[in-house]
Amino acid sequence: MKLVKNIITIDGPSGVGKGTLAFSLAERLEWNVLDSGLLYRLVGYLSSNEGLETSQEIVQFLKKSKIKLITNLNESICEIELNDKILGKDLRNENIASRASELAKETEIRNAIIKIQRDAYDSEKGLIADGRDMGTIIFPEAALKVFLQASPEVRAERRANQLKEKGMSVIMHDLLEQIQQRDEEDINRKISPLKPADDSLLIDTSNLSIREVEEKVMENFKKL
Ligand code: DC
Repeated sequence: MKLVKNIITIDGPSGVGKGTLAFSLAERLEWNVLDSGLLYRLVGYLSSNEGLETSQEIVQFLKKSKIKLITNLNESICEIELNDKILGKDLRNENIASRASELAKETEIRNAIIKIQRDAYDSEKGLIADGRDMGTIIFPEAALKVFLQASPEVRAERRANQLKEKGMSVIMHDLLEQIQQRDEEDINRKISPLKPADDSLLIDTSNLSIREVEEKVMENFKKL
């Protein structure tokens, strides 16, 4: 396989700092970001808020919808334009994330969004792809594949801070439980489980600042 230098994949469990790293690299390199978790959250949202009960209904809905991914570098977030409605904040809560993780086990759901994810790559621009299977399944051709790790406690703490910054209330014990449950589901599912690609750069971020993680990635990027 011919390796592509202007795709960097970042995989790892929730709350490990993938999003923060993705945006700091994207700003530095002036690339786009694919927050693939947001697409699974969209699926979770369609199930919890729009009453689409089965995977088949969700896939049908996705097929007939106009879905556009937007990288908003000013606010360091990705958004989804779904049939002219912008969804961003509506998708970022733990209930939607749990539903997303459950539905992410379904083969037909995963297959339905492969093309949307691959289409996020514009060869002229470059892409940071953030998710669980970016390096293994969606962009195996990426020359640099990063896999982030950190203990569940550190991740729950970081997620709590993010939610508090957005003015949401947090119960630490519940958050830690949700994170552990989601890890369990993401690691153990049969298709596209969360795991590092064989040629990944593994980084434990527990005791590193975002700058230190970014520097490690850039050092490896410059060697390509
Ligand atoms: O990255 P996130 O927390 O927004 O992702 C929400 C859920 O979506 C996550 O628990 C599992 C699923 N997901 C996935 O299965 N594959 C991806 N590439 C990204 C997310």
